[in-house]
Amino acid sequence: MADLNEETLTDAVIAQMASTPDPRMREVMESLVRHLHAFARDVRLTPQEWLGAIDFLTRVGQACTPYRQEFILLSDTIGLSRLVNLMDDKANRTGEATEASLLGPFYRENAPEFGHAESMATRAKGPEMILFGRILDDEGRGVPNAVVEAWQTDADGAYDLQANDPEVMDMRGRYHTDADGHYAVRTLIPLGYSIPMDGPVGAMVRQQERHGMRPAHIHVLVAADGYRELVTALYLGHDANIDTDTVFGVSESLVVNLRENLPGSPVPSLPSVRYDFRISKRAAGDTTGRVGADPSKIAAE
Ligand code: BEZ
Ligand code: FE
Repeated sequence: MADLNEETLTDAVIAQMASTPDPRMREVMESLVRHLHAFARDVRLTPQEWLGAIDFLTRVGQACTPYRQEFILLSDTIGLSRLVNLMDDKANRTGEATEASLLGPFYRENAPEFGHAESMATRAKGPEMILFGRILDDEGRGVPNAVVEAWQTDADGAYDLQANDPEVMDMRGRYHTDADGHYAVRTLIPLGYSIPMDGPVGAMVRQQERHGMRPAHIHVLVAADGYRELVTALYLGHDANIDTDTVFGVSESLVVNLRENLPGSPVPSLPSVRYDFRISKRAAGDTTGRVGADPSKIAAE
């Protein structure tokens, strides 16, 4: 019988799991056990601390509802969602394709359809803006009939799921590009907002004396036949928290600024952002780059 001690235990666990038939699962679980054990040794984890962690994870699970995914929020606030995003982008993004960003927990399937430059603010009120530009392929040609989905907070910094009856959709919409790949979204200027702070993840963020804010942003998902789905977001450069996003979603290439009288804006009287999104051809075996809400759980009825 093996004499288990702090040094031999890790290998004993891995040896027992070696019968796992799925090679990827075997690889992932072996690495997970090695790193978890190394972590516990590194911090000399005490029984009380481990029970505290289990209690925290239990509360994270209990905070999940069909409209709230506290585990994704945990993954976001410790940078794991963004890390998975960045690695996926590195493995699959080609050429000049636009960088990905977090899907976030507020994406919903079946957002309403709008025409070119029609406003997706159907209930919320506030100062307006236009987001317009083109969807381009790797060669810089416009992609016709691409779906451009946008969603964001209102001018008070709340998503529809937080502001209204969660059954009601607002501040989100689906647009289609024209024959030359042009799209235009009329919307409200989003406000930066606090991630949900009323659950166990919010308590953790407060304990760490972090502000819990995300800079103002507009989420964009671009889908077109034969192309890799692009899940990204544009961040407004004027936001005071642009460099300290609580969920680490901001990249320099995704920071934009509102301008007056931009040439080509479909509503020149409104401040606007022009942004051309580049998408790349879908490669064989490419899977979704989404790290965020499970759309089957947050679907419109
Ligand atoms: C968001 O983009 O809305 C978001 C992302 C991660 C956590 C919370 C909110
Ligand atoms: Fe968001």
